Amino acid sequence: MADTLLIRHPASGAETELTITDASIRAAELRRFNIGGEPLATFDPGFTNTAACHSAITYIDGDAGVLEYRGYPIATLAEHSTYLEVAYLLLNGELPTATELTAWEDRITTHRRVPEELKTVLAGFPASAHPMTILMSSVAAFFSFYPDARNFDDPASRSRAIARLIAKMPTLAAYAFRKGRGEAYVAPEDDLGYCANFLHMLFAQPDRPYEEHQHLVRAMEVLFILHADHEQNCSTNAVRSVASSGNDLFTCCSAGIGALHGPLHGGANEAVLKMLREIGSVDRVGEFIEGVKAGRTRMMGFGHRVYKNYDPRAKIIKSSVEDVFEITGVNPLLKIALELERYGLDDEYFVSRRLYPNVDFYSGLIYEALGFPPEMFTVLFAVPRASGWAAQYQEFITDPEQKIARPKQIYTGHSTRDYVPIGARG
Ligand code: CMC
Repeated sequence: MADTLLIRHPASGAETELTITDASIRAAELRRFNIGGEPLATFDPGFTNTAACHSAITYIDGDAGVLEYRGYPIATLAEHSTYLEVAYLLLNGELPTATELTAWEDRITTHRRVPEELKTVLAGFPASAHPMTILMSSVAAFFSFYPDARNFDDPASRSRAIARLIAKMPTLAAYAFRKGRGEAYVAPEDDLGYCANFLHMLFAQPDRPYEEHQHLVRAMEVLFILHADHEQNCSTNAVRSVASSGNDLFTCCSAGIGALHGPLHGGANEAVLKMLREIGSVDRVGEFIEGVKAGRTRMMGFGHRVYKNYDPRAKIIKSSVEDVFEITGVNPLLKIALELERYGLDDEYFVSRRLYPNVDFYSGLIYEALGFPPEMFTVLFAVPRASGWAAQYQEFITDPEQKIARPKQIYTGHSTRDYVPIGARG
């Protein structure tokens, strides 16, 4: 049953009644009302309480620490699925049958290679280029190689662009990684699964083929599943915004990669490692925490816009840390991280603000143990997020309610004034 909300202007006392549907108010409805001649608008920097879409892909209950893809709890998927199976689920709404999964895996395998000409684009970047910059530019460049992506209203064209994106992201990421190390590119290996092939393209050497280790491949699958989607986060919002002006998937995902690069979003796991190194030893954790409480710095990998409880992804990653370290050797920064977490879960500053470890707190430690430099960490977030961005893009494109993204502003500048010629300005 629809409910109503009575708004009373604090100064004029003017009253306005609004109808609430679906536990939400349609913001466009507000425009019908005005107070003192000004149409009502929501003021919501960062969209902390503004829903921009209806979505059936990912469900989060931030207070309870729940994350589900298409109704399946993240821990169940992390335990039983592969990344490609989860990508299929995000895109199609249902888990695949065995036949559907094989067909989907084969389809992705056939699209793994990137165009030869793109390698000359990659060659133009300086050796010092951040791999996220290379990834962002290369994904944008895909549109020049696959202009069919423009026909996004045609399901077949859209699905081709999606398969290409998901298939080629690991290839691009591996090339960006090897470029930074001055190493020749390694072609995809069709007999290997998605994550095993990625590790092969990253780490194989001419005299030493990549030795597949099932536990590490599985750890990568789990990390990819955990990062596949996270509803309307900053980068997904960027993807949807860019899609709203009528863009192809590659252009939109390039914008998503840019948004993800920021240290408050995907760049946080890189920042966590930097923070742990700066702290340097367990006995300096207390001093660091005092600095956080005094507002001099933030505890990276802690806090989340949505989770006001332990991030369920962080819980799963933390539980696989030991499995990975058993094979790779223990990352010595783990002790500092555990001590930081102990403080964080106990200290009034963090408790009262409901700041808990997020997905980035432990992932960097694993990535480092696997042999990745910090600048690759965000890339390892972007590769699996491609499936989430693609699912969100698809949902946006097929949603008749959606419009071009165009937030309002509340103007605080000058009222109209006279132009003063330059010679008369004092
Ligand atoms: N360390 C110290 N204080 C913090 C932190 C932190 N990591 N995060 C939030 N706070 C404080 C903040 O100073 C504020 O305190 P006060 O009320 O006294 O001013 C209060 O908590 C609320 O913070 P906020 O900035 O209003 O919260 P937000 O929802 O806008 O920010 C966040 C969310 C993720 C940007 C923030 O928690 C943060 O900067 N965390 C560190 C960066 C990080 O780990 N980012 C990865 C997020 S998870 C991956 C992803 O999904 O992208």
